[in-house]
Amino acid sequence: MRTHRIALIRGDGIGPELVEAAVAVLGAVAGQDYRLDYVEVDAGADTYRRTGTACSAENLELLRTGVDATLKGPVGLPDVRLPDGTEAGLLGGVLRVGLDLFANIRPVTLLPGVTSALAGRAAGDIDYVIVRENTEGLYASRGKGVGNRWAVSDTLMTTREGTLRVCRRAFELARERGKSGKSGTVTCVDKSNVLRSHALFRDVFREVAQDYPDIGTEFLYADAAAQALVLRPHEFDVLVMENFLGDVLSDLGGATVGGISVCPSGNLGERVAYFEPIHGSAPDLAGRGLANPVGQILAAALMLDHLGHHRDGARIRRALDTALASGRVRITAEGAAVGGPAAVADALVSLLDEESR
Ligand code: IPM
Ligand code: MN
Repeated sequence: MRTHRIALIRGDGIGPELVEAAVAVLGAVAGQDYRLDYVEVDAGADTYRRTGTACSAENLELLRTGVDATLKGPVGLPDVRLPDGTEAGLLGGVLRVGLDLFANIRPVTLLPGVTSALAGRAAGDIDYVIVRENTEGLYASRGKGVGNRWAVSDTLMTTREGTLRVCRRAFELARERGKSGKSGTVTCVDKSNVLRSHALFRDVFREVAQDYPDIGTEFLYADAAAQALVLRPHEFDVLVMENFLGDVLSDLGGATVGGISVCPSGNLGERVAYFEPIHGSAPDLAGRGLANPVGQILAAALMLDHLGHHRDGARIRRALDTALASGRVRITAEGAAVGGPAAVADALVSLLDEESR
């Protein structure tokens, strides 16, 4: 039987309980055609506090070459800071840049039984993917801002190569989604009317679009896109954008589908990838049975897709839809999961077990 080696970064705050729930759900689908072998990787804010580094060079190398994929919980603790005042335990810069994971795939999907903050939207009405450039843009300045206590400057970096590869990934994704009935459109989101760096992004997008004549294109300035994602979210399929814009607009998207707690993401390079929810570690919720593991569980499903087990990824998504539609899993208006991570995992595992009997 085929074995996939999976790194687990359990993370900080609510991270460990979310990852526990996701591993339980993975256990209910894996095991027939393939095995998942887990290797624990110590990384995040608590790791930084204990060891002085958020992720050691050896662990980074392990994630790059020693595993088939990584499932990561949220990391970060507000009081664990670097001397420059920024948070010390965040792994975004370390893993995304360190492993060259240039595409951050962020599906925004309104699930059954979840109330949208937008009036009159039901499951199926909102189903798009934000492809966030993940290694450059404004966040290329992470840890590199220059200045003093009166003035600081952060530089936004857009490269031709970086934009080519993330745009290609977005068009490939739209082509893939087109096969299952989506519109097959990629929207380029930028502020090219103001920033030269974003104008380069748009030019390169146009160039890539020529290689995908079967895929429709749309151009939106980022401010107009924020409005459009609220007013006409049903019209979007795939959107591609610079790093900082993708960070902001994916949280906006999350708010329209029941909150960022239900939103998963995949950080993808040419071969290496890790999967995580888009939200943070919410230390104040940890251990109280309040955390919502849906984003983490959907991240695990994305990981199965990535490993080539689309059928099992889809089984997890279907079980979640069924559980939400029937009330076996309930999400409150505030985005909490009733009964916490363990209750959600139990409900999904029993649904998946019933199905495979
Ligand atoms: C995200 C997060 C991270 C980011 C933070 C925690 C560094 O907000 O994954 O969206 O800025 O990318
Ligand atoms: Mn974010």
